[in-house]
Amino acid sequence: MPATPAIDKLDAILAYSENFLDKMHEMGQSPHARKSLQRLFSPSEAAAMVGRDRTTLARAEAELGIELPARNPENNRRVGYTLSQIEAFRQHFGTSPHRDPERDQPMVIACQNFKGGVGKSTSCINLAHYLALKGYRVLVIDTDSQATTTSMFGYVPDAEITQEDTILAYLGGGQPTLETVIRKTYFEGIDLIPACLALYEAEIALVLHIAEQTTPEARRAVFAELSYGIQSVAGNYDVVLLDSPPALGVISLNVLVAADALVVPTAAKMFDFSSTVQFFRMIRTYVAQLAPEKNYRWISVLTTLFDQRYDSQRQFVDVMRACFGESVFQRVFFHAAEVINASAQFIGPYEQIKPNRKVLEMMDGVFGEIELAILREWPSKQAALNAKGII
Ligand SMILES: Nc1ncnc2c1ncn2[C@@H]1O[C@H](COP(=O)(O)OP(=O)(O)O)[C@@H](O)[C@H]1O
Ligand SMILES: [Mg+2]
Repeated sequence: MPATPAIDKLDAILAYSENFLDKMHEMGQSPHARKSLQRLFSPSEAAAMVGRDRTTLARAEAELGIELPARNPENNRRVGYTLSQIEAFRQHFGTSPHRDPERDQPMVIACQNFKGGVGKSTSCINLAHYLALKGYRVLVIDTDSQATTTSMFGYVPDAEITQEDTILAYLGGGQPTLETVIRKTYFEGIDLIPACLALYEAEIALVLHIAEQTTPEARRAVFAELSYGIQSVAGNYDVVLLDSPPALGVISLNVLVAADALVVPTAAKMFDFSSTVQFFRMIRTYVAQLAPEKNYRWISVLTTLFDQRYDSQRQFVDVMRACFGESVFQRVFFHAAEVINASAQFIGPYEQIKPNRKVLEMMDGVFGEIELAILREWPSKQAALNAKGII
């Protein structure tokens, strides 16, 4: 049957636009394609990050072949080091915070809540930046078809990223490990497995896949696939961060099974608060069914989008503590213009050339609590925490 004019027209449009997407896709495959970390670190910032004083760093520069940091012609002050140079200093002085490969397990943390717009992706991205600046090796896995995290790393999800570039290459995709879909990012210390819209469609295929299984064990195994995939690559990292879809589904349940610890972002609003209680009820049911032997190291609610201007928000924090007790972080993630700008310009507060110190201080407080929760799980770090009087 000859094609109708409508089909002809659609074919013509698709031939043209798919060619364009293919080109963008190729661009996306080349690492560090466009985005780069513009922020530099002053000698005193670098000293604090490395754990050695400025003079010691300056002396080591020549030995490490580090190009002298450029000077500002106006005041002759050094402009700063790059994150890669700071990492070279850490290696040189043995001050990397990496976990002990023998004694400490990589920590898989999911930013999860079944509600959208509560700050899951924001928490995930900025926590990754925080940990990487501290010198940890981080793998970020975007499992949300909305691909917010993927975009923040400089990719255009559905143009540059296809199904084969995501966790779907492994989940029912036939690849024996997640290794093949890990890509380096422009941000030293952070690797990424990106997401795209195909993850949304994959939910249906995964449900059909489950229906084909003949035993309860085989059905449960489908929910543990991501966990196995992560185990195959986690040895190269200190922390694996999972950004989750805002819905209950096969992928978000895989995230729940794969995680060692949960950060549950909850917006500082009454409605979100009760939906988090509902989230805990739901995951209680599913964990009991899918992974009854599961051991979460910790589960902690993170209060987000907190507006300091209103008294009622302060009361809200008290309510959160009354309700979730120990299972809520003490620090809260404030509503900040820098974070909104970040989603518009794809540059997070930690990446800004001139960061807003107040915002960084707030985020350091929030993520410092999470870092401590991680360190508490690593036997090799206990003596240092003890010495600091932390435990
Ligand atoms: N601390 C914050 N301050 C200001 N805006 C924020 C903050 N955290 C998140 N947002 C904004 O709220 C929206 C939803 O955040 P996002 O992290 O994408 O939520 P989720 O991943 O849960 O859907 C985004 O537009 C984001 O820029
Ligand atoms: Mg999100």
